[in-house]
Amino acid sequence: MASGSADEEKNAVGALWRRIGPTSELSKQRCRLMYSPLGRDADVCLFCVKGEFFAMDARCAHSGGPLCEGDIEEADGVLQVFCPWHDYNFDLRTGKSGTTLQQHVYEVKLEDGDVYVKHPSHLSLKPFPADQSA
Ligand code: FES
Repeated sequence: MASGSADEEKNAVGALWRRIGPTSELSKQRCRLMYSPLGRDADVCLFCVKGEFFAMDARCAHSGGPLCEGDIEEADGVLQVFCPWHDYNFDLRTGKSGTTLQQHVYEVKLEDGDVYVKHPSHLSLKPFPADQSA
């Protein structure tokens, strides 16, 4: 039996390309929080920085801080999000931090004007409604 990391397990079984929405719409916000029916721990951030998209788990690997609310900075050519709770930073491309913490990232592709995120099939990514009023 393979003894892969948690990241490998998330990618291993049933990850499919999920259409998230139009690139033109999703590029208007620096970060879009995508929810999972499995609960908050499975939510995903979709970042758009300088026209490029990145997806990673929305809850910080340290103690669950909301990464969608974090600052984004570029240092030495590396785009990083800084967790608003304790300021750990994570590479938007790899999820690596300067510590042993690893934020899970997901593949993103643009196709026919839409953004797709490769995500396990048992999760359903949907944008939060912009307006939840009835
Ligand atoms: Fe993110 Fe602590 S919860 S750095």
